[in-house]
Parts: sequence; C-alpha cells; structure tokens
Amino acid sequence: MDFELKTLTLAGAAGEKCDALVLLVGESFKPGKDALSQLAGDALKARDLEPKPGKLLHAYRSDGIAAGRVILAGAGDGSGKRVHAAVQVAVATLRTTGVKRLVICLPADAQDDAVRAAVAATAETSYVYVATKSKPEGRELQRVTIAVANKAQHQAVFHAARAAAEGIEYARELGNLPPNHATPTRLGQEARKLAKAHGFQCEVLGPREIAKAGMGSFLAVAQGSEQPPRFIVLRYQGAAAGDAPLVLVGKGITFDSGGISIKPSQDMDEMKFDMGGAASVLGAFRALGDLRPALNVIGLIPSCENMPDGRSVKPGDIVTSMSGQTIEILNTDAEGRLILCDALTYAERFNPSAVIDIATLTGACVVALGGVRSGMFASDDDLAQALLEAGDAALDPCWRMPLDDEYAEGLKSNFADVANVAGRAGGAVTAAKFLQRFAGKYPWAHLDIAGTAWKSGAVKGSTGRPVGLLVQFMLDREGAAPAKPRRRARK
Ligand code: BES
Ligand code: MN
Ligand code: ZN
Repeated sequence: MDFELKTLTLAGAAGEKCDALVLLVGESFKPGKDALSQLAGDALKARDLEPKPGKLLHAYRSDGIAAGRVILAGAGDGSGKRVHAAVQVAVATLRTTGVKRLVICLPADAQDDAVRAAVAATAETSYVYVATKSKPEGRELQRVTIAVANKAQHQAVFHAARAAAEGIEYARELGNLPPNHATPTRLGQEARKLAKAHGFQCEVLGPREIAKAGMGSFLAVAQGSEQPPRFIVLRYQGAAAGDAPLVLVGKGITFDSGGISIKPSQDMDEMKFDMGGAASVLGAFRALGDLRPALNVIGLIPSCENMPDGRSVKPGDIVTSMSGQTIEILNTDAEGRLILCDALTYAERFNPSAVIDIATLTGACVVALGGVRSGMFASDDDLAQALLEAGDAALDPCWRMPLDDEYAEGLKSNFADVANVAGRAGGAVTAAKFLQRFAGKYPWAHLDIAGTAWKSGAVKGSTGRPVGLLVQFMLDREGAAPAKPRRRARK
C-alpha cells in the first residue's frame, strides 16, 4: 500500500478526488468556511456526531466535496491512542467497499504521535492474509494520503511509521503462514532474501554448523523433528564497524507440539505462531533496510520444530549448552528457553551494547498481562526505561516484570547445573531467570510476547508485535547516540 503525507487545509481536502475521505474530528475541532467544516460543524451541532473515538458518521456525495464518500470520525483529544482507535474503526468500515484511494485528514493541531498512529492503524486494519487462499480477496486500499497542516513538521515520523508498518506486515505474514510452509528452512530463505534486498550480511547455519558451535541445548529441541534446524545471523551495519551492536534474538519455534511433554490438542494449531519472536526480528530488519539508522544491529534466530518422536529429547535428559552449563530437561515443552540460551551465548562474540530477546515464551505471561502489554524483563534499568518508552510511543506497549534471585530457587537440579522448569508459580519470571543465567556478559532484556504476538478466536492471526516497539527503540537509540553523520536512503 502506498502512503503519502500531504499538506492540506480542509478546503483543500474537500477538493481532493478520492473514493473516501476520513475526517478526524477531535474535541478541539474548529469549523472553517469550507464544505468539510460545514458538514462536521452541522453534525456536531445536531449531535449526530460526537468527537469520541469509535463514533462515526457516514456521508455520501456531499455538496462541494470531491470525495465519493465522507466519514466523520470522532478523535477525542487527538492523541496517538485516540487517533489510532478512530482510524481503526473508520478504515474497518471501508473493508469490502471497493475503496482504493483514501484521504485521512488529521486534526489541525495533530502532533507526531497522531501521524504515527494514523499510518499504523490504516496499515493494520486493511491487511488481508492471502498466501494460502485459493481465491484471495486481496487488499482493496491502494493509496492513502495522510493530510496534515504542515507536512514538513511530520516528515521524519511519517517515514518511520511507514517503514514500521511494512515491517509489522511482513512479520504478520510470516507469523500467519501455516507451519508446513513457515519451516526453519523457509525462515532461513526469508532472511537471505531480506539480506539481498537491503544489503545486510546473512549467514544461515545448518545442523552440522550448529553442532560445531556447541549449541547442545538448541540441538536437543531440534532432534525430534524431520525439519532440519537453522540458526540465522543477520547483520545491519549503519555505524562505524567498531561500534558495539545491538543484538536482537528471536525465538523461532515454527511449531511447538510440546515434544514428549505433548500439549493438549485444543488450539494446538496456534503453536504455529511460536516463531513470532523470529518474525519480529525479521520485521525489524525489514524496517532497518528502509530507515538505515546510524546503528549496528545483529539479528539472531534459532529456529526449529518441537516434535515428539523416537529421537526426541526426553524428560530427564541432560544436555550441555554452548555456555558449558548443563541443563536437565524436565519438561520438553519449555523448549523456547533451551534454544534461546544458546543464542544468548552466541551473542557474546559480538561484544554487544545490549541484547534483547523476543519470545512467545510462557503461557504464564498471558495469564499475567493478557494481550495488552508484552512482558519485559531487564538486567539494566536504562534499557528497561528505553523499552517502556518506545513501546508506549509506538502503541506497542510492554510492562516491566521482576528478576529477584529468589525466583530462581525452583530451577535447581540434583543432576545438572540448572533445570529447564520451576514450579507453576511465577512461570514467566522463572523462565526469564533461566535465560538470565546465559545473559550475564552484556546489558540484557527479554520480551515475553506470548500474549501479544497473535490473537485467538474469530480474529485469529498474527499481530506483528513487537515490531513497532523495536523500530521505535532503535530509532530512539540512534537519536541518543553521539552525533554521527546521518545517511537516509529514501525511495
Ligand atoms: N510456546 C509456549 C508458550 C505459550 C503457551 C505461548 C501458550 C502462548 C500460549 C512455550 O514453549 C511453552 O510451552 N511454555 C510452557 C512452559 C512450561 C512447560 C513451564 C507453558 O507456558 O506452559
Ligand atoms: Mn513449549
Ligand atoms: Zn514454545
């Protein structure tokens, strides 16, 4: 989908030829003398429209307005959150109406966060999954103009929002693919394709190379599957070669049956989404390729299936991780931490400035935070703060969770250095405590996206989270770095 940012007064917007025009009417709306203002002013006065998000009024072929139809949409205080809600509802009503060309007029006093939200909500709401349908519907919206009072003021945020939207959509598409399509091999191919398109370095390790690196814990999870594992290394260099990189690690379990500790069959199909962390790293790289910030970023994706088989790892098996620590696998369904721990050790070789792992790690995190905020754990307060702020700004929020050492008690093993599970209590925290043992050599954060990476039920599908958070975090981090010459490649 094509987005465009344009300076337009309401009088100008009234003259824009398009299939539909959405006029966001906030609490501070001041009608002018143009046709759009008249329409909104009359509707407000008659109380046919309230300036609240979610409230809509449709008008068809209005006098003096070039748009085929007009949707007046309440936008509350005009904040990012309210604009997001308003645009979501408005664009949703346009699905299957054949609208190709859309203009969205932001309130005259709109700030950057409103621009960001309008782009995100439009892209998000108009996304249509087509990959495995024999008669795909296809996306109808083709061209979307975001109309603002002064385009120059919002240009940077607009570019970033557009790139983030593409990254989010890419992550969604990968996440939604069925597990017989989105195999570890396919993720490796996707990484290579991305690398080629954007000039990243890319290495994809297979079973032999993974063994050679000593990733005994990762291989233990992979050994029960017919699908060979992949360990993906993506490198984006936007700063001097000596600049310590940010490392993003994504859990890439392309199907989690639980292994020998097999899951119940109810909703097991949703375990195709267990590669949401991996998808978010690939989505973040897609955005990096567009935005090219002055930053070095490395993406690491351990990817395999978790399957029951005669060759599968068993409860009680003890494996040696790349770090040298031995792990007693008491539950083969706690496999995410087993593949991530080796990736966290692998990350040490880059002398990272920070490492963030992203994983659909625990059902316990879904219980704790639901689908609103991702769980965030961090060994470093500055990193935690930056992630909180980035999440809030991107409307892809997270919430900090504790890492007290007492939570690690239950991970003690009589036969190995550590067990892969503790009791049921505090399951999201004990999982994080397990990971922390492998992340001692750099500032580290862990995002548990088990509740946020996908939606269940009638709206079942990948959300692309937390690509928005990650992109915002990286751009903030670029801004916080000592001044460097900026190179922005623009299409
Ligand atoms: N991929 C799951 C976590 C998950 C479960 C995410 C349900 C979203 C919804 C993970 O591999 C897992 O199975 N975790 C176990 C850990 C337990 C065995 C300690 C869990 O959460 O039940
Ligand atoms: Mn599992
Ligand atoms: Zn899993």
